[in-house]
Amino acid sequence: MYRIVIEREDDVYMASTLGKRVAEEYGLNKSQQTKLVVSIMELTRNIVFYANKGELFITPIPSYGIEIIALDQGPGIANIEEKLTNTVRSKTGLGLGLSGVKRLMDEFEITSIIDQGTKVRAVKWLNERQDKYFDYRTYRS
Ligand SMILES: Nc1ncnc2c1ncn2[C@@H]1O[C@H](COP(=O)(O)OP(=O)(O)OP(=O)(O)O)[C@@H](O)[C@H]1O
Ligand SMILES: [Mg+2]
Repeated sequence: MYRIVIEREDDVYMASTLGKRVAEEYGLNKSQQTKLVVSIMELTRNIVFYANKGELFITPIPSYGIEIIALDQGPGIANIEEKLTNTVRSKTGLGLGLSGVKRLMDEFEITSIIDQGTKVRAVKWLNERQDKYFDYRTYRS
């Protein structure tokens, strides 16, 4: 498991680079790697912008995937549901934001408490293609 303290823009790149390395090492394909790296960038960028300081944990889960947890003790997020839908435009209009992370990753959970902080947990599966293979077999038989 890897833990990266997130305080500055540099830490965003540090976390992304490490995420890419772990993804390669554990056999995620190029497209999965990119989705993981973009998600790490979005979550850690949010920490720097809105919470000032936080942490990112990257944990490979053998035969399953790669879990990322972004944790901070910032102001928390009001109306999360609204912010997870594409109908609300992001402040900056850049990046994919939280809704993008939700779409890119295979599992996504967010917990946020006003004035206490935010935790986002997401997983990129290793067996995305295997699932499709199983679907195909089921359809054939
Ligand atoms: N870690 C966080 N702590 C506090 N508020 C947050 C945090 N992450 C996101 N938010 C709030 O949720 C909103 C939506 O975040 P999201 O990342 O989807 O879009 P954005 O950061 O505004 O724009 P973009 O990511 O597209 O540049 C933010 O504008 C901010 O108000
Ligand atoms: Mg953002």
